[in-house]
Amino acid sequence: SEKEQALMTRIRRLREEKNAVILAHYYTVPGIQDVADVVGDSLALARAAAETDAEVIVFAGVYFMAETASILNPGKRVVMPDISAGCPLADSCPAEAFMAFRREHPEAFVVSYINSSADIKAESDVICTSSNALALVRQIPADREIIFGPDRNLGGYVRQQLQRDMLLWEGACYVHDAYRWQVIEPFMSTVPEAAFIAHPECRTEVLDHADFVGSTGALLSYTEKSDREVFVVATEPGILYEMKKRSPEKVFYPAPKDAAAPQSTCVQMKQNTLENLCAALEDGERHEVNVAPELAAKALRPIELMLEMSR
Ligand code: 13P
Ligand code: SF4
Repeated sequence: SEKEQALMTRIRRLREEKNAVILAHYYTVPGIQDVADVVGDSLALARAAAETDAEVIVFAGVYFMAETASILNPGKRVVMPDISAGCPLADSCPAEAFMAFRREHPEAFVVSYINSSADIKAESDVICTSSNALALVRQIPADREIIFGPDRNLGGYVRQQLQRDMLLWEGACYVHDAYRWQVIEPFMSTVPEAAFIAHPECRTEVLDHADFVGSTGALLSYTEKSDREVFVVATEPGILYEMKKRSPEKVFYPAPKDAAAPQSTCVQMKQNTLENLCAALEDGERHEVNVAPELAAKALRPIELMLEMSR
């Protein structure tokens, strides 16, 4: 629309003026993906944050992503369009309870999903994302006990794929955990030519039926490279925008959900709008992500180890 175009022009001008870079996740609204310098999955965005030489990072995603960007850039201003956009999965793992869990297994190597708070990261040995979890856990000596948190579905997937026992924290993402194969299966039979692809935050019963499992970035490249023409996608449907952009001739369906649990979008990701993104560029202070320096220094180590181990 005209209003969107005007906002985008304004955002682009402010980006130049402030020497800012705009990083956006695939789940954000199309207008934000269009205006962003980098659109990516959690790992790609963390890498982009680690490598940028811009003075200001505008992070259109959820809090833990911007917080990670800030930890990687001490002293640099990191702003979010809406600072209250948190990831409920990350918030479901309080630091105190997690530390108590850790104390019960003092010898364990702690692998924490990037969808976690800085407090959890600071108490972890290495951080992973859904695109490098398998590769990282594979590098941990076989005789070492592992704690994996906070996503039990991703943890269960890694455990199954690697045949490796891990102690799991019982967290889940409300968007992905709501898929049921019982609901998806009847839909699949209406599009028999379709490939079924899913994010590892989905339940095992769903992943067991997938032709491909991967992070948002991995799902995207799969659809680009695959010979298949039709895809049913079990992850937040914001990713369909870039899938269609890259493969305009292919057909994409969001995987259906039960009418009783219709929540299919990530409410927190959609809190990012062109309006508040523009406001974050205009008035950085109100939108700034601040991590206490001591905490940031502690949380940085396992993040850096992740970047090294998944090069
Ligand atoms: P990706 O790293 O796959 O983009 O996952 C981020 C996320 O929040 C999934 O719900
Ligand atoms: Fe968090 Fe789930 Fe939203 Fe991803 S989709 S940001 S895991 S709530």
